[in-house]
Amino acid sequence: MESAEIRRRWLSFFEERGHIVVPSASLIADDPTLLLVPAGMVPFKPYFLGEVAPPAPRATSVQKCVRTPDIEEVGKTTRHGTFFQMCGNFSFGDYFKEGAIKLAWELLTSSQADGGYGLDPDRLWITVYELDDEAERIWRDVIGVPTERIQRLGMADNYWSMGVPGPCGPCSEINYDRGPEFGVEGGPAVNDERYVEIWNLVFMQYERGAGESKDDFPILGELPSKNIDTGLGLERLAMILQGVRNMYETDTLRVVIDKATELTGVRYGANEDTDVALRVVADHMRTSVMLIGDGVTPGNEGRGYVLRRIMRRAIRNMRILGSDGPVVGELVDVVLKTMGQQYPELLTDRKRVETVALAEEAAFLKTLKAGTNILDTAVTETKASGGKVLPGDKAFLLHDTWGFPIDLTLEMAAEQGLTVDQEGFRTLMEEQRERAKADARAKKTGHADVSAYREVADAAGATEFTGYTHTDGEATLVGLLVNGVSSPAAHEGDEVEVVLDRTPFYAEGGGQRADTGRIKLDSGAVVKVRDVQQPVPGVSVHKGVVQVGEVTVGSGAYCHIDVGRRRAIARAHSATHLTHQALRDALGPTAAQAGSENSPGRFRFDFGSPTAVPGTVLNDVEQKINEVLGRELDVHAEVMSMDEAKKQGAIAEFGEKYGDRVRVVTIGDFSKELCGGTHVHNTAQLGLVKLLGESSIGSGVRRVEALVGTDAYNFLAREHTVVAQLTELIKGRPEELPEKISGMLSKLKDAEKEIERFRAEKVLQAAGGLAEGARDIRGVALASGRVPDGTSADDLRKLVLDVRHRIPGDRPAVVALFTVVKDRPLTVIATNEAARERGLKAGDLVRTAAKTLGGGGGGKPDVAQGGGQDPAAIDEALAAVERLVAESA
Ligand code: SER
Repeated sequence: MESAEIRRRWLSFFEERGHIVVPSASLIADDPTLLLVPAGMVPFKPYFLGEVAPPAPRATSVQKCVRTPDIEEVGKTTRHGTFFQMCGNFSFGDYFKEGAIKLAWELLTSSQADGGYGLDPDRLWITVYELDDEAERIWRDVIGVPTERIQRLGMADNYWSMGVPGPCGPCSEINYDRGPEFGVEGGPAVNDERYVEIWNLVFMQYERGAGESKDDFPILGELPSKNIDTGLGLERLAMILQGVRNMYETDTLRVVIDKATELTGVRYGANEDTDVALRVVADHMRTSVMLIGDGVTPGNEGRGYVLRRIMRRAIRNMRILGSDGPVVGELVDVVLKTMGQQYPELLTDRKRVETVALAEEAAFLKTLKAGTNILDTAVTETKASGGKVLPGDKAFLLHDTWGFPIDLTLEMAAEQGLTVDQEGFRTLMEEQRERAKADARAKKTGHADVSAYREVADAAGATEFTGYTHTDGEATLVGLLVNGVSSPAAHEGDEVEVVLDRTPFYAEGGGQRADTGRIKLDSGAVVKVRDVQQPVPGVSVHKGVVQVGEVTVGSGAYCHIDVGRRRAIARAHSATHLTHQALRDALGPTAAQAGSENSPGRFRFDFGSPTAVPGTVLNDVEQKINEVLGRELDVHAEVMSMDEAKKQGAIAEFGEKYGDRVRVVTIGDFSKELCGGTHVHNTAQLGLVKLLGESSIGSGVRRVEALVGTDAYNFLAREHTVVAQLTELIKGRPEELPEKISGMLSKLKDAEKEIERFRAEKVLQAAGGLAEGARDIRGVALASGRVPDGTSADDLRKLVLDVRHRIPGDRPAVVALFTVVKDRPLTVIATNEAARERGLKAGDLVRTAAKTLGGGGGGKPDVAQGGGQDPAAIDEALAAVERLVAESA
C-alpha cells in the first residue's frame, strides 16, 4: 500500500467516525518552546491545556514532523528518520482509553478491502505503563489480546510528554512483530527492531513540570479534561505494508535512493557503508525539501542551522559515494515529485524550494574541498603532536571561512578518532557574533569592507535623494568601484558600483525594494543598474554593469529609473500601510509591524499576533482596504519633528532608528506612519488589493502576502477562469461547486471500493482452476504457480486460502502462489493440517522461496508471506518449493 493511500485511509477512517480533519501545520512550530514540530499533537497543545476551546471534540491529522536528536542513527537502524509523518487522532475530553484502543485495533486489523490496514492481529504486541491496570484490562478483556502479548514497561518507555513542561500521561504502544529473521523472540520489551512500535496511544490527563530526563519530572496536576493523543508513524506502517526491511526503502524514500545510485553509480545493496550513506542522502534530502517548503532558509542559527546541517550532511555523503558535481537539483526534483502528491504546495512553490536548495549547495561546494583539506591537515597536525583534541580555532576557521557546520567538523574529526575543543569554538563564535552585528549593514553590499564607500562618502558627502519628486535627473559621478575596489575608470562589461552626488534611485530600505534603471554618462557610456544599497548610511551605491563605453569618476551623468517598476512598488508600499492600519483596527495594537517587503505589484507584511488570524477577519480586513481605495484618499508626506509626529499619532516601524526629523506619510484620515519610502498620490491608483492569506513565520509573528493593481487583477482573473472551467465541467453554479465536488469525491470513493471488491472477486474466481490443477508430488497435492501481476498481497492471501479450502482436507496439500507487484515478486504459501503433519510448514517454505527471490519473509506454519527483489527468479522459487515438498515424503 502506497504512503499516500495509508494517509488517505487514516483520515477517512477517523473522519467517518466523527473527527474533524485538520491539515498538517507548518514544521515551523507556533510554540516558543520548540524549534520545529516534533509530534502530531503540537498544534493541539492549547486544547489539551484548556487554554483555548477546541473547535470540535474529536480531530485527526497527518502532521509533518522533524526530529534531529538521533541524526547519527539515520541510515544505520531501520527506522530513524529526521522527517516523518505522524498520523494522529485526538479526543479533547471526549472518548478516552477504551475508545482510543478500540479505534486503533479496528483500523489496524480490519481488512484492506474494508478500508483498514489488514494487519495480522497475531503479530501485534502491546505495551502499557507499568501502573496502568485499566489499559491492560481493556486490551485483554475488551479486545482479546492474549496476556502473553501485553507487556508492562516503566516511565521511560510508556509515559509520554513533550520533554518540557506541558501535557503528559501514561501511554500504550502497539508493536508489530516482523518475524524471526529480525531477531530474537520476547516482545518489544526485549527487541525493538523485530517488534517495531507503530502506534502510540497517549492517555493525556496530567500536566508536568520541568525535569531533565524522561522519567524524572513532577506531575503538577490534572488537565481540565481527560484527552487522547495518538501517533502512528506513517513511514513505519509503510515499511510493514510494503514488505520492505527499513523505512528508507518505502515508496517515497526509495525513489530518492534510486536517484542517488543513478547519480553516483553505486549500487544499493552492494555494501553496508554505502547503503548507510545512500539512506542518509534520501532521508536528509527529503527533510531539507520539507523544511525549505515551510519557509526555513539555511543559516547559522536555530532552524536555519538544522537545515544547513542536514543539507550539508547529505551533500557530503554524496561526495563519499563518489559524486563530484552538483547533485541537489536532481535529488530535490525526485523529492518534490514524490512528496508533492501529498503536499501540493511544494509543487506550487517549486521554484523557491529549488532556488534555496541550489544556493546552499553552491555555497557549500565552493568550500567543501578546501575545507576538507584544512580539516585533514589539522587532524594530521593534532595527531603528530600526540593530541586527541582538534583545537577550537580550527573548528572556527572551518565554520567561518569554509562553512562547515560544527557538527560536520565533529563527525569528520570523530571518523579520524579525534574530538573537538567545543568550548574554544563557542568563545570564538560569540566574539564573531558581536562583530557581525556591527557589520550587518555593510554585508548587504556583498563586500564586508566598507572603507571604500566611506572614503567616497567622506570625499563627496551623502547622496541627495531626488526620487520623491523625480524619476530622472542630472548628477555627477563621484565614486566608482570595480569588483569592490576603488577605480578611476571602468569599461564595457565591468561589474561596477557607482556613487553619484544626487540620485532619483531609491536605495533598498524600510522594506522597499530598490529601483532599477540606467545611468547615461556624458561620454555616451551606459551603466545598467540592477540594485541600489546604502552600505554606509546616506550613501547610495548603484550596482550594475557597464553596457557600453567608458565610465570615469567626475563625469556628468543622467539617471533614468524604471518608472513602471517604481509605480508598481509605490502601489505595493501604500497598500502595506493600509494593511497595517486595517490589521491594527481589527486585532488591536499587538498587530504591530515586524517587517515587510514591497516589491513591484506585491508585498508581504509581518506583524505580531499570538494566534492565527481567522479567515473571516482577514476577509474583513481585505474588504476595508478596498473600500479605502474607493474613497480616493490623498497620500502625502511631510518632514516634522519626532515629537510632532508622536503628537499626531503616527505609527513607527519596528526596529527602525529615527533621527529628530522624521518623514510622516499620511493616507487621508486612514493612516499615518513614519516612512522613508515612495508612495502613490491617491489611493485610487492602487486599483485593487488582494490578500493571499496569512501564515506563521515564527513564534507570535504572522505574515500576510498580497497582490496589488494589475497583479491582483491577473490573479483574480486566473481564479475566475478556473471556476468558469469547473462550472462548465460540473454544469452547476459557482456556489454549488464545493458541494458538488465533495459529492463527486465521495461517489468516487464508493466506486473505488466497489472496484476493489470486483477485483478481489475476480482473483478468487481463479481459485477453482488452481485447485483442480493441483499436481500430486509424492502424495502431496501441490497447487502452485504465478498469478497475474499486480494482485495485492491481501488478494493473494485470500486466493491461497480459498484454493487450500477447495482441496479435500484428508489429503496433504500445499498452495504456493506468486505474483509481481511494482516489479517486486511476492509470495503467499499455505499448508493444510495433513501437510503440516508431514513437516511441511508454510513459514519454512516461504523462507526458502523468498531467499531464492532475493528477499525475506515468514509467518505461521499454516500460512506465510514473503517477497524479494528479482521477479525473474520466480520459476526457480517454484522449483525450490516443489523440491521441499518432494523431500518431505
Ligand atoms: N504524542 C505522542 C507521540 O509523539 C503520540 O502522538 O508519540
